[in-house]
Amino acid sequence: MSAVRHFLDIDRLDTATLRQILDMAATIKKDIPAYRSLFAGRTLAMIFEKPSTRTRVSFEVGMRQLGGDVVLLKPDDMQLGRGETIGDTARVLSRYVDAVMVRTMGEERVHELAEFASVPIINGLTDQSHPCQIMADVMTFEEHRGPIGGRTVAWIGDVNNVAVSWVHAAVRFGVEIRLGCPEVYGPTPELLDWVKREGGRITVTTSPEEAVRGADCVVTDAWASMHNTDVDERAAVLGPYQVNEALMALAAPDALFMHCLPAHRGEEVTDGVIDGRHSVVWDEAENRLHAQKAILAWCLGATI
Ligand code: CP
Ligand code: NVA
Repeated sequence: MSAVRHFLDIDRLDTATLRQILDMAATIKKDIPAYRSLFAGRTLAMIFEKPSTRTRVSFEVGMRQLGGDVVLLKPDDMQLGRGETIGDTARVLSRYVDAVMVRTMGEERVHELAEFASVPIINGLTDQSHPCQIMADVMTFEEHRGPIGGRTVAWIGDVNNVAVSWVHAAVRFGVEIRLGCPEVYGPTPELLDWVKREGGRITVTTSPEEAVRGADCVVTDAWASMHNTDVDERAAVLGPYQVNEALMALAAPDALFMHCLPAHRGEEVTDGVIDGRHSVVWDEAENRLHAQKAILAWCLGATI
């Protein structure tokens, strides 16, 4: 096996590495001009098999701000879209670029890229996880409230890809995570087994009120993710899990509200919450830029 540093999922990395990445993110954020040549001569390929605003822009701007370059790849424009294998694509891209970020469907596609690539592969979201997002979320929490260890985070609604990465991060950073979700859209037994094996603290409840009570951070996301087709069915079941002012009032008085965005105002979150005093969603979106620079720096072995 190679010693290539892939950023595939938070559960695959240890706490010290994750902390090192967050420290680097804070350092770079404080003085961006000081690092303007950090990625000089380096190129990131970005494969998007699903739409994106934040991930696309923050990776591209992040590379360019630090002197690097990017190549944007859409499957329809690639031989990958005509049946070239992921393995062959990985081997070829590795001869041209220094790292590959991929947003795709099943996580096995990212794992296959990593298996055949000789450059770092970064998971920019799959149906199963969204690790870059949660690095930005943890960074945002700590900027506002200090160390996240020992704090409580309530995830409300669909236990989707973003929620899974939050669970991974909660375990790695010593956070108590509460999932307030309907049974049908709850965590997989495998995820719960992993938390147990790792000694993490997790509560799963069908009551959003129970999940939120006294929490330091309340997080939600779309009822239907990009890979879900049963949109109406989900809306019917997840309706009671809307994060509104009444629910938010049960959290700690200084609780933060986070959402990876895009938000569906009036569905999983009300205007009053996303635009209200608890919300840090714009800082959270900005921190994608800073956290991903650090992920890239770690993957590329750049010295900060
Ligand atoms: N939060 C997030 O990943 O947003 P995009 O889908 O716009 O990249
Ligand atoms: N859960 C959402 C996240 C979007 C950034 C999705 O996968 O569509």
